[in-house]
Amino acid sequence: MPKAKYVRESHTVMTEMVFPNDTNPLSNLMGGNLMRFMDIAGAICAQKHSNRIVVTASVDNVSFVNPIPLGNVVTLEARITRAFNTSMEVVVDVFSENIPAGVKNKTNQAFLTFVAVDQSGRPIEVSEVIPETEEEKIQYEKALHRRQLRLLMAGRLNPTDTEELKKTFFEHSASI
Ligand SMILES: CC(C)(COP(=O)(O)OP(=O)(O)OC[C@H]1O[C@@H](n2cnc3c(N)ncnc32)[C@H](O)[C@@H]1OP(=O)(O)O)[C@@H](O)C(=O)NCCC(=O)NCCS
Repeated sequence: MPKAKYVRESHTVMTEMVFPNDTNPLSNLMGGNLMRFMDIAGAICAQKHSNRIVVTASVDNVSFVNPIPLGNVVTLEARITRAFNTSMEVVVDVFSENIPAGVKNKTNQAFLTFVAVDQSGRPIEVSEVIPETEEEKIQYEKALHRRQLRLLMAGRLNPTDTEELKKTFFEHSASI
């Protein structure tokens, strides 16, 4: 297994400006363009962690709560939360900033999973993640549960496969 790495070693910040070509008829950034930015920022982070080519395996739900208007600056921050065998979970936070008005808001967050692959596209082992801060440690712990839920949704895991999923699906529903 490659040497374990800290979260900060692959921390990625990407900045974009919303131009007319990126917007919908209401002059706000199109959702698909934002997802593209999130995918790129997340992939760069996963590449830095693994030093490999990576492919996007899944994107957890993305909610578009606040629109990002034309002319605003979009900042995307990507951090790895945990690596498993060949896959890595990365969280991407999105901020929208109106620089002349001095206003900056967080608009979105999503968890993306990337898989490191060799030149033939075959999955390849990645370094473990070492969480340092309290927040990194919390996200590291929660990443396992998120992974199980997403593999369940992808039809790659059964609810009875792990004790944690059994608790989520059977013990909770039995107590309602
Ligand atoms: C992702 C991909 C490499 C997985 O290949 P595979 O043959 O299923 O390989 P494996 O079963 O060995 O799985 C490899 C890893 O992918 C993870 N994975 C597969 N499907 C997943 C999904 N839907 N969500 C999250 N992780 C997933 C597995 O859990 C495994 O992780 P682990 O090694 O850390 O346990 C393959 O499906 C692929 O190349 N997909 C297309 C990727 C792509 O083109 N992305 C851009 C989309 S536009």
